[in-house]
Amino acid sequence: MTARLPRVGHGERALVLGRTGSGKTTGAVWLLSRAPGRWLVINSKSDTMLDSLGVPVSYNAPRILAVPEDARVMVATPRTFDPDELDLVLLQLCESGRSISILIDELLYFHNASGRAGPGLMGLLTRGRSRGQSFIGCSQRPAAISQFCYSECDYFAIYKLTLPQDWQKLIAITGKPALRKRRAPFYWGWYDVRQDRLEEYGPVPAADLARRFA
Ligand SMILES: Nc1ncnc2c1ncn2[C@@H]1O[C@H](COP(=O)(O)OP(=O)(O)OP(=O)(O)O)[C@@H](O)[C@H]1O
Ligand SMILES: [Mg+2]
Repeated sequence: MTARLPRVGHGERALVLGRTGSGKTTGAVWLLSRAPGRWLVINSKSDTMLDSLGVPVSYNAPRILAVPEDARVMVATPRTFDPDELDLVLLQLCESGRSISILIDELLYFHNASGRAGPGLMGLLTRGRSRGQSFIGCSQRPAAISQFCYSECDYFAIYKLTLPQDWQKLIAITGKPALRKRRAPFYWGWYDVRQDRLEEYGPVPAADLARRFA
């Protein structure tokens, strides 16, 4: 049975969507605990759980690339909210060709005022697969993130969402009205795009999570 639990494999991409406090970050960390490879966690919201997951690094591509390979998880807390500056580091990591996978805790920060994703995020989403760079991106405002984030994804983890415009965007892009469900706190749906399969899950084991990274 365990083999069938949700998993972001090598070079695969997942979006984790849900209103604030719905359990996105906890769900993303659970996915990370099951994902292969080396990861950079971009802790844009200074989440304390994310801080504890791995080696702290500056949000600076040469420094990230210099971290010894035995660090499975690196955690960077950017000191800027400028989307271009944030995106530039992604571009440099993407172009380095190294197989560092990326978890972004809030994708909104990587979009400019007109809602566009920069070349770094787009590069990661469109060329990451061939470079073995996996991706997990969270957002509390699905209506405000670029279509790119949706169209390049292999999986969607969907937590409680309340705004009609968030549902509309998700359903318009995926063409899957069944994703819209009234979910209890911390319950989530996992939609596998290739298999066109939606499965529902209860809360991930949150108490046990940090230990998995010890
Ligand atoms: N599976 C779970 N079991 C128990 N508690 C949980 C679970 N998931 C989340 N929580 C708790 O609910 C709170 C919110 O969870 P989390 O930070 O993951 O949500 P979020 O959607 O990322 O919130 P935000 O929008 O503020 O970033 C946290 O205190 C967390 O410990
Ligand atoms: Mg969060």
